[in-house]
Amino acid sequence: MAESIASSWQRQHLLSLEDFRQEEYELILQTATSFREVLSRRTKKVPTLQGKVVAHLFFEPSTRTRNSFELAAKRLSADTLNFSPSTSALVKGETILDTARTFLAMGTDIMVIRHQHAGVPHLIARDMDNLSGNVHILNAGDGKHSHPTQALLDLFTMCSYLQPELPQAKSMAGKKVAIVGDILHSRVARSNIWSLVTNGAEVHLAAPATLLPREFQELGVKVHYQLDKALEGADFVMTLRLQTERMAQNLLPSLREYHQQFGITRERLARCSSQVRVLHPGPVNRGVEISSELMDDPRLSLISHQVTNGVAVRMAILYLMGTYASTAENLRN
Ligand code: NCD
Repeated sequence: MAESIASSWQRQHLLSLEDFRQEEYELILQTATSFREVLSRRTKKVPTLQGKVVAHLFFEPSTRTRNSFELAAKRLSADTLNFSPSTSALVKGETILDTARTFLAMGTDIMVIRHQHAGVPHLIARDMDNLSGNVHILNAGDGKHSHPTQALLDLFTMCSYLQPELPQAKSMAGKKVAIVGDILHSRVARSNIWSLVTNGAEVHLAAPATLLPREFQELGVKVHYQLDKALEGADFVMTLRLQTERMAQNLLPSLREYHQQFGITRERLARCSSQVRVLHPGPVNRGVEISSELMDDPRLSLISHQVTNGVAVRMAILYLMGTYASTAENLRN
């Protein structure tokens, strides 16, 4: 990998995309494209992070994100550690910070953190900065706040569809993206809004009013309480899961009614651009936010591409961070 790529990465942690600049998106897409090529080889492993320790601290359930991160770290030859709350000392009363400090004491270089409460990765990052200064924190989803790597793999997936050989973030300029579903509880929606707006896309949100506060407009997007306007001419439609585990009260009449009004189906896509493609971060409630047949239609759905691309994008981020670590250490030595 070209030295120049790595040297333009300047972040100790990846906690949110809120302050990401367009050059940083381009850097990640360019790096992910190189790793996509590595993953197409017969031997899919490179020695880049040999000797580094990557710990996955998932305080909340996950299938895709956790395994995707783990595979990415393994493909880069890192040693990986895993942690599950129910089988850890957390059940004996250990605090989150003491858990992180335990992993620090074992020589962890990168901690990938998911937690049901917003701000936990930031809290751990602050603690690690005070204690060591060498550990990198990667946010793999915190509460309703942020899920940066999901938005980055979504961006890579859309840009790869637009320009298969050379995906570039700038190709999103002027594209219309409709984000539909439980926006209120979605860290994926928030992260995608930051990414898409910075890269010049026109973002339209659609959901029942109980799941879409009007204040979202302040992020530079259009808010709709009916689906059709949001879909009109859209180049991409992102559907989101109803996050019932985060709903303190019943915010919907019924799942059937929700599907009738906001469910994405093949028929509904007729309003979109003729080249429209559908995304979903998973896990999917089939027949609720998206029809089962549309989800499985490889001509219209990019869902499996999102999962595949997740590994290359996470390899890119781990690589950039791991290499930044050695640059920072070198400067100190
Ligand atoms: C999302 C998450 O956990 O934020 N899933 C994921 O990471 N692929 C979305 C969701 O849970 O609905």
